[in-house]
Amino acid sequence: MAGKIIAGVLSPHPPHLVYASNPPQNEPRSEGGWEGLRWGYERLNQSLFSHPDKKPDVILVHSPHWMTVVGHHVLGLPHFKGLSVDPIFPHLFRFQYDLKVDVDLSLLIAEEGKKEGLITKVMKNPDFRIDYGAITSCYLTRPEFDIPIVAISSNNSPYYFSNEVGQAQMEKLGRATARAIARSGKRAVLLASNSMSHRHFTTEPEIPEDMSFEHIYHHGQYLWDMEMLKLMKAGRSRQLVDSLPEFMDMALAEVKAGALTWMLSALGFPSYPAEVHAYGSVIGTGNAVVEWDHFKHAGGEVKI
Ligand SMILES: [Fe+2]
Repeated sequence: MAGKIIAGVLSPHPPHLVYASNPPQNEPRSEGGWEGLRWGYERLNQSLFSHPDKKPDVILVHSPHWMTVVGHHVLGLPHFKGLSVDPIFPHLFRFQYDLKVDVDLSLLIAEEGKKEGLITKVMKNPDFRIDYGAITSCYLTRPEFDIPIVAISSNNSPYYFSNEVGQAQMEKLGRATARAIARSGKRAVLLASNSMSHRHFTTEPEIPEDMSFEHIYHHGQYLWDMEMLKLMKAGRSRQLVDSLPEFMDMALAEVKAGALTWMLSALGFPSYPAEVHAYGSVIGTGNAVVEWDHFKHAGGEVKI
């Protein structure tokens, strides 16, 4: 039977959300914080995992913090274990991870990517350190880590060439991913591991989780975020993708790294409304937890 896409998710990865949750794997302790976004992830978790027919076999994550200059890489060993430290916030994120990988699906994505003319590579270094973006999105979506993942790198083309070249690559990668899922027979959830507007404060309060300091960096960023969320809620994903290059330039949006375009392309640019589970700021950046419930609106069907 052909595989299915259960859902696509805009899944922001500020390490603050892990720090605030105090999981045993993370060394620093907190008094909480950023509840609006964390409760949004709880609603997402309910939506993805409480329906018996909807439960996924695999979680795919595309992260801007595994950046590759040449081509698109996927994890190619069944198990990765180690310590991931956020280079910017080492006092918030020192996380012991222990992840299972769906290598069969990784290999299919690499194969299908080549058919799209993309350079693909399978990461088989057992000491490879998984980036904090992938870990954070996976942890917040499924804290148990009991579902295998496929992590995909973000190719550097939007930074080396242009936003448009980068997005074109991500559309191809999305199509390749969809075909790979269909061939795998698996039920997949796709995480686009991205914040939205991304200007942020460069100093933090003495207590990082002191919420009296937390607010959006400036009003223009907020307006851009709301405009993008409006398109998501209206099911206008083609218009959304067309607007992303300007959003990237105007709000330094982290979607520049391509995860959102990859995910929407894999979903076949859905015209049904997305559900916004939460919106909130983290050190001034805009973040939204948004679900495209492909199971509910399209029966999980993969358009290839
Ligand atoms: Fe990030």
